Amino acid sequence: MSQPSVVLGVSGSVAAYRAADLARDLMRAGFTVRVCLTDAAERFVSRELFEALTSQPCLQDVFEEPERGRMAHIDWARQASVIVVAPATANTLVKLGFGLGDDMLTTLVLASERPLVVAPAMNPTMFTNAHVVEALERLRKQGATVVEPAEGDVACGENGQGKLASAATIVHAALTASIRSSRWTGKRILITSGPTYEPIDDVRFVGNRSSGKMGEALARAARMMGAEVAVVSGPVAVQYPAGARVVRVQTAQAMLDAALAELPGSDLVIGAAAVADYRPIEKQSGKMRRTHDRIDLTLVRNPDVLGTLVAEARNSGRNTRFIAFAAEPSDGLEIARQKRVSKGVDAIVVNDVSRSDVGFGTEDNELAWIGPTGEATSGKRSKLECALWLLERAAELP
Ligand code: CTP
Repeated sequence: MSQPSVVLGVSGSVAAYRAADLARDLMRAGFTVRVCLTDAAERFVSRELFEALTSQPCLQDVFEEPERGRMAHIDWARQASVIVVAPATANTLVKLGFGLGDDMLTTLVLASERPLVVAPAMNPTMFTNAHVVEALERLRKQGATVVEPAEGDVACGENGQGKLASAATIVHAALTASIRSSRWTGKRILITSGPTYEPIDDVRFVGNRSSGKMGEALARAARMMGAEVAVVSGPVAVQYPAGARVVRVQTAQAMLDAALAELPGSDLVIGAAAVADYRPIEKQSGKMRRTHDRIDLTLVRNPDVLGTLVAEARNSGRNTRFIAFAAEPSDGLEIARQKRVSKGVDAIVVNDVSRSDVGFGTEDNELAWIGPTGEATSGKRSKLECALWLLERAAELP
């Protein structure tokens, strides 16, 4: 495997001088290091310093192209195993947290699907500023690692939490993120996501409230961990990551057909879709009129998408791993344990649908993992953090 590489983003804190040692320590830990400076950082440390230390060109201006005709922010974002921003100033953190890209560093982070590590360094009052706190919370929810600053004397003469963490702590975080970023490299993950809509007539359907947010989070996490990703999605408003192949469908039957076509070559299949279990026996053409006092809608059972994929893979001798989701009320763990066996999947992940703060349509989730070698719970986290947690466990399936 090629050497893992870090883009080291240095923003304009007095602690920028410590990024020189950090660059060296990252290289000693086995990384190729490329440094991207903000203009403010350049007031404290020079590009020449980092170019001499790393033997790589530095980036600073958003229009720079070390290789003519190549957009550096795209190339660097694609090639990095991990992006480490150290020191991260209040200004850079807030821009990263809210998705601004007004310089090379923030633009590069926007163009990246890989893990992000941020190590804040600033005055203690700035560190507790509500905007900074919110930006850090948003970054954590998006899967970033925050290396907490230490307590002590800071450059402005005050004392409190705001000192850049030690190089050893930041290198450790970079190594952990880098391992995560290659966890699924070379592997293909197929995800079913969202609801299915089963037509009653040309304008009405039987469906459910699945938002596709968990499927989207899984697709993002899988990209972050290096996988090739295919998503077969019912009708949803979420944005899947650009690096994922997305096949859009409406009905359970169409989801099954598309997923069967995607199955060959998949190492892992995750059934995150809330497939409608039943569909109207036939679709009325046109729009049904309001002329009857009563209408009886007869529903027939839909195919089991995941179950069919499991059977297909096992019949053709493919070594594919399967994970099912189970939306269960709080006492549903035993039912889920039985479903894992009856569905023939390797693991089943349970969401508690009796809670209103997690699951359907919400930003957070809490998952219970029931696998072949044990059980675990994720704790309440953002859906992306849950997805990363799930894919870490999935990578260890026997
Ligand atoms: N699933 C599927 N196709 C279906 C129904 C479910 O692929 N027609 C998948 C879901 O994506 C999920 C898993 O099966 O990963 C479990 O879904 P769930 O609705 O909990 O299970 P069911 O088999 O439908 O059982 P229940 O009777 O409890 O609804």
